[in-house]
Amino acid sequence: MSGPHGVWRGGEAVLQDSYGAMAEFHDLFMVEPWDELRSHVRAAFGGLPAEAIIVEIGAGSGIGTRVIAQETRARVFALEPDLVMRAILTARVADDPELASRVTVVAGAVPADLGRLPERVDGFVCAHMLGHLAESDRRALFAWLATHLSDDGTGLVTVHWPRREVGGSPDETNGANDAGGGNDADGSGGDVVEVRTLGEYEYRARHHAPDRPDESRSSYEVWRGEVMLRRYTFTSAWRIVTTEVISTDLAASLSIEPSGSHVALIRRTADAPDA
Ligand SMILES: C[S@@+](CC[C@H](N)C(=O)[O-])C[C@H]1O[C@@H](n2cnc3c(N)ncnc32)[C@H](O)[C@@H]1O
Repeated sequence: MSGPHGVWRGGEAVLQDSYGAMAEFHDLFMVEPWDELRSHVRAAFGGLPAEAIIVEIGAGSGIGTRVIAQETRARVFALEPDLVMRAILTARVADDPELASRVTVVAGAVPADLGRLPERVDGFVCAHMLGHLAESDRRALFAWLATHLSDDGTGLVTVHWPRREVGGSPDETNGANDAGGGNDADGSGGDVVEVRTLGEYEYRARHHAPDRPDESRSSYEVWRGEVMLRRYTFTSAWRIVTTEVISTDLAASLSIEPSGSHVALIRRTADAPDA
């Protein structure tokens, strides 16, 4: 493999900014982050009526879309740019009549494709995705939300939090978690942070100390017994986006408040001039 998104390096696929290439693994390692987010989703959106609209930005494979739809009666518009991630999302929605009745899958990226979303938004979710956006794109997203969020609307965003040490420096996670633990016993580099078994194969995710502070680097491996069958390393731009960073991105009509260690809520600023 060669080209703008991937190269073979020492028998291993090294992929740059290519969600499609790691979409096979994404769902496996997002179960725990969404278990943790579920109560936040319920608190933010559980009271919305059936005619309300939630937009989910960067919905990925839809593991969170399903949580959102389970915790609210509102309709959900799930925006996802990557074809492979979106294919998994679409299949997940299509397979479940309850999801199919309320979830619309929208192809596109922010900020360019915000116009494909509904005019009025009663809630929004940006989970494990703001780190992918450049500052100007985050600001354009929040400016759009400031003009489309209903007066009593709520946004739920995940924010940066240091979760564990890899190679001596804090790991800036983009959502994948460290439930499995491990100590690099096989010497292939990076800690094993989670293991899932499907049939006869074991899937391992390793999160590496990035070469640069604005980068995230993870490896995904497929093992059968003691034999590693495949390994992919995925590198992407990942900016550190904290509650403080977002508060400087927001238009005056929106305010952000932390809600737990890595979740924050965005609402209309009381008495803001353009609120
Ligand atoms: C770490 S995944 C998280 C997916 C999902 N939100 C979740 O929590 O499981 C990040 C997602 O953001 C999407 N993404 C990246 N850049 C984006 C952009 N400019 N607009 C919308 N989504 C974007 C990626 O395609 C990917 O699906």
